[in-house]
Amino acid sequence: MADPFYITTAISYPNGRPHIGHAYEAIAADVIARFQRQMGREVRFQTGTDEHGLKMAQKARDLGQTPRELADEMSEYFRAMCDALDISYDRFIRTVEPEHHRASQAIWQAMEAKGDLYLDRYEGWYSVRDEAYYDESELVAGEGGEKLSPQGTPVEWTVEESWFFRLSNYADKLLELLRSPGFLEPESRRNEMIAFVEGGLRDLSVSRTSFDWGVKVPGSENHVMYVWVDALTNYLTGLGYPDDTELYRKFWPADIHLIGKDIVRFHTIYWPAFLMSADLPLPRKVFGHGFLLNRGQKESKSLGNVTDPLALTDQFGVDTLRYFLLREVSFGQDGSYSPEAIVLRANAELANSFGNLAQRTLSQIFKNCDGRLTAVQGHTEADNALFELLRRVTQEEMPAHYERLAFSQALESWMSAVFACNAYIDEQAPWALKKTDMARMETVLATLYIAIAQLAVAVIPVMPGSMGKLLDAMGIASELRDFTAIWSHWYSPLAESDFRLDKPQGLFPRLELPEEDAG
Ligand code: MF3
Repeated sequence: MADPFYITTAISYPNGRPHIGHAYEAIAADVIARFQRQMGREVRFQTGTDEHGLKMAQKARDLGQTPRELADEMSEYFRAMCDALDISYDRFIRTVEPEHHRASQAIWQAMEAKGDLYLDRYEGWYSVRDEAYYDESELVAGEGGEKLSPQGTPVEWTVEESWFFRLSNYADKLLELLRSPGFLEPESRRNEMIAFVEGGLRDLSVSRTSFDWGVKVPGSENHVMYVWVDALTNYLTGLGYPDDTELYRKFWPADIHLIGKDIVRFHTIYWPAFLMSADLPLPRKVFGHGFLLNRGQKESKSLGNVTDPLALTDQFGVDTLRYFLLREVSFGQDGSYSPEAIVLRANAELANSFGNLAQRTLSQIFKNCDGRLTAVQGHTEADNALFELLRRVTQEEMPAHYERLAFSQALESWMSAVFACNAYIDEQAPWALKKTDMARMETVLATLYIAIAQLAVAVIPVMPGSMGKLLDAMGIASELRDFTAIWSHWYSPLAESDFRLDKPQGLFPRLELPEEDAG
């Protein structure tokens, strides 16, 4: 069996319903997970909800609910979002689970045994929205001169008894880690983290006493852990830590923690320091993706532009949304979306280019060859040139781009091959060969049939549902749906078995802009 591969998303605060940013991260992680599975790796993919902390406690109080009621209700929306977006997670974790409390207490005890925890008093700034402590020097002035966190969220002065973690002890090791190639990507996020460590690390407050919604500190029952201490531990909980399980041995350390760029500090400074303290191996990579903007603006309740990701899937289809988000935005950077941009791309690239290619080819095989291809002859130079291009695109370029998480480039490369196939079909004009050379017509259609199968397999990570349907309709067995098998196996079910193509169903309908968005 090939190398195991463990990927996680950040776990979301279920203090409200999921928004497009949650969908974006889940989709990107799913593409990585599906790609690695197609490359033959044994993948474990974890996502979930981050349910403790002051933000959850306050929101529940405002709604007149208990935090647990709020968490139970809202967590379901996140799970439902994942299911609606076809996210192939293996584990959906909730931090209220008893085994998560046990794992968090175990890592706490390991840090305590190392001598890295001590009791003191915290006096300083705290942002409930970010669930983060900030140093005075990090704060910025708001429009009315009020103090805000670097993320622009309100901060409050907090004074309470607290356990502290000796973060300052880990500065040198953290610098070494941050400088090691590949650990933090994109690289542009690295300098900021290095500067943060070089600016001097202060010990971190890791427990709270002014509320009790969290994991209890072992032996210090009036303290709950700082929510990030337990949240980060979710990555271990899901593998059975602290028990010496098969899952843990197979999948830890994680290959990628995929997160938003706003929480890089927690994942590349606090988390590795906790792990070092507990003598646990460090994740191999943390990738901080960018934000999605709605017509160039951040979504917010006050602007009234918050989009329910499920409304977008209803409107455009899951796979179209997945394709758009990964194609439009260079992964790692911020990106922007709008219904017009989705419709434009979906129509040009999915309906008119790939969809049309598949529809034209398969319906000719259905109509003119009775759904079978039995008279295929030797291939011409034009056929071989197309195969060579497909080999380069689907065997070299796309896997390399996926591997580096350059999704928009993988899809650009894919599109270039789709264009080449459309040029080939126009040039070869199989519909005209029907009257003059049936055998050549079948050869052209067989060339296209193989090309379409390869193109479909290469975008399964991005559009699993529609490509699955297409490959089913084409009679391509599931064992062939990976990068190597589809190429190495020149089997055509239309010639070698009783399989017959049915009348093809359109894959990607042309989209119209909905009334309220048009104009
Ligand atoms: N709930 C946090 C947020 O939305 C993310 C927690 S990720 C984990 O910002 F590292 F704690 F798991």
